[in-house]
Amino acid sequence: MDKIQNNFKVISNEKLCPRFYRLCLDAKSIVKEIKPGQFIHIRVSDGLEPFFRRPFSVYRAQKYVEIFYEPVGPGTKMLATKKKGDVLDVLGPVGNPFHMPPPGTKQVVMVAGGIGVAPFLILSDALKKAKNLELVLLYGGRTKDHVWPMKEFKQNGCKVFVATDDGGVGVKGRVSALFSKINTDPRTTFIYTCGPHAMMHAVQDFAKKHHIQGEAACEEVMACALGACLGCSIKTTKGFKTVCYDGPIFDLQEVLF
Ligand SMILES: Cc1cc2nc3c(=O)[nH]c(=O)nc-3n(C[C@H](O)[C@H](O)[C@H](O)COP(=O)(O)OP(=O)(O)OC[C@H]3O[C@@H](n4cnc5c(N)ncnc54)[C@H](O)[C@@H]3O)c2cc1C
Ligand code: FES
Repeated sequence: MDKIQNNFKVISNEKLCPRFYRLCLDAKSIVKEIKPGQFIHIRVSDGLEPFFRRPFSVYRAQKYVEIFYEPVGPGTKMLATKKKGDVLDVLGPVGNPFHMPPPGTKQVVMVAGGIGVAPFLILSDALKKAKNLELVLLYGGRTKDHVWPMKEFKQNGCKVFVATDDGGVGVKGRVSALFSKINTDPRTTFIYTCGPHAMMHAVQDFAKKHHIQGEAACEEVMACALGACLGCSIKTTKGFKTVCYDGPIFDLQEVLF
């Protein structure tokens, strides 16, 4: 990789469902470097507001680098106004990637809450080539506005199960209502999770009960994304760790949610 900071042109920035957008960047110099689980840190404005970059998991890295995001505050709302041809200052790829599932794994389960689904399409792109590996996505959203058709996951061969808090789509309830869909043999199942802390805590408890190994993709408010400011520190069984430098991927049982 030539350099970590680059200016990339926006190829498209489309609304995929009422809550979520997909931004596609012409990022040839980094697209081949990116591994599933890594993120990019985007400067969303040329001015001083917002001052800090905003971090986003890489959603897909094929021809272009794509992110999948939810406008929730000033930075992400500003990002949603970007048009084809606009240029964004991007740092990355940043952080450590997911480990590939250990030998003997027959079922990979991705448990996602809301926009926490973002790091899993690129993971399924990488895993779909593996022989005799079943890919399962358990997806929890608040309402049907937080769910989009999941076509690309299905094209990658994933079995997709959805739960919504209001029952608008899929099963009514939390994503944990879908745990019954998976095989719980710890010798052949591996879990990846990303989403709100409470959800990942539930996944951690479930995995612990069944002795299933896994990894969690963590998100914290960030500033430098270089391991310098310690602003993104989280508590783990091995002391405080930074999400940007030590993570964002951690052993599922290591994080103290
Ligand atoms: C490694 C990493 C990967 C991420 N990947 C994605 C992604 O793929 N798609 C996506 O939509 N978002 C992702 N996020 C979260 C995204 O960075 C925040 O939503 C964004 O920074 C909010 O900026 P804002 O200015 O719009 O809102 P702010 O005003 O900064 O925040 C709005 C609200 O969101 C909370 N918030 C801000 N940042 C985070 C965060 N990092 N985690 C949890 N809550 C936060 C704030 O406390 C506040 O309540 C990721 C975060 C990290 C650390
Ligand atoms: S954001 Fe500065 S150490 Fe992680």
